[in-house]
Amino acid sequence: MSWNLGAGIGRFTGELAKQAGSVDLIFSNWLLMYLSDKEVVEDLAERMVKWLKVGGFSSLESLVFINQVFKECHMSDDFGNSSEFSLITFKCVGAYIYWLWQKVIRKMTRGSNVSWIINNKEFVTKLDLKPSQKVLDVGCGIGGGDFYMAEDFDVEVVGIDLSINMISIALERAIGRKCLVEFEVADCTKKRQARVVQSFFKWLKPGGKVLITDYCKRAGPPSPEFQEYIEQRGYDLHDVKAYGQMLKDAGFCEVIAEDRTEQVQIIHQVLQREMDAVEKNKTNSFKTFLKWEDYNEIVGGWKSKLNRSSSGEQRWGLFIAKKN
Ligand SMILES: C[S@@+](CC[C@H](N)C(=O)[O-])C[C@H]1O[C@@H](n2cnc3c(N)ncnc32)[C@H](O)[C@@H]1O
Repeated sequence: MSWNLGAGIGRFTGELAKQAGSVDLIFSNWLLMYLSDKEVVEDLAERMVKWLKVGGFSSLESLVFINQVFKECHMSDDFGNSSEFSLITFKCVGAYIYWLWQKVIRKMTRGSNVSWIINNKEFVTKLDLKPSQKVLDVGCGIGGGDFYMAEDFDVEVVGIDLSINMISIALERAIGRKCLVEFEVADCTKKRQARVVQSFFKWLKPGGKVLITDYCKRAGPPSPEFQEYIEQRGYDLHDVKAYGQMLKDAGFCEVIAEDRTEQVQIIHQVLQREMDAVEKNKTNSFKTFLKWEDYNEIVGGWKSKLNRSSSGEQRWGLFIAKKN
């Protein structure tokens, strides 16, 4: 069942309220701009998560970022199962932001977030940060690590990322926070990884440290499939030992180079569970919203990622080094 919210909201809300958990897709076009923040937060988002079936989708457009509001929406059913919205995708087109959310059982998305938080906290602890130090986060994404460092260690952080979408969300998340974090859209690319670490060395003060987590490859020549993937993505991948050597060659000392692939595999297990759930659901709501080409591209991308990880060719390295 699919509902289009808009003019009919007043007539149908009473009816909808009786049918919690019955809708596959909620489609809302040109509605959110007529609602106040309070109405979106307290009324619509909460009702939507109730109306949808687990696995059902909500497609909306808005003029402002509403991700925080949607992420904070939870509900528990009579059997104690807790659900929430998970962001599938969003796209900025002109002044509008188009969103696709899915209602999921809460622990599914939590697993991956928790893994990331645990990993990042462990890594940041290794830096021994002191108040007022300046941190540059290259490829900061939506800024989670930056808020954590600024708020818990009282450091000043500049986060840069290539993606306008990532930085927009990071900026929105910064609103109201009392910590020293700035975000900017910037491309650090020098194509060759060795040139990037040379830049890091140049930017640091004497005594400054670098912490990098990055994709790596297994030592030795890659398989033809993996080589094709590397070329298609334009990656410059090294094995963990060679990456450490690259840091030493750039002038860094006290270099730590560790293979942390197993830590990422926990996240991949969560991805596998989420993918199985989406696959199970594909014949109904997903099919009605996305074109098959898009669906196959998304699921195909996830599957290839899992294959690369289980074959052991794609590695994940943690590197820490100091500039004397
Ligand atoms: C895997 S995400 C990691 C995000 C964040 N650091 C975290 O730990 O959650 C990698 C990020 O690097 C950004 N990125 C990729 N290439 C970049 C480049 N050349 N310059 C700056 N950022 C880049 C991507 O847009 C993406 O947000």
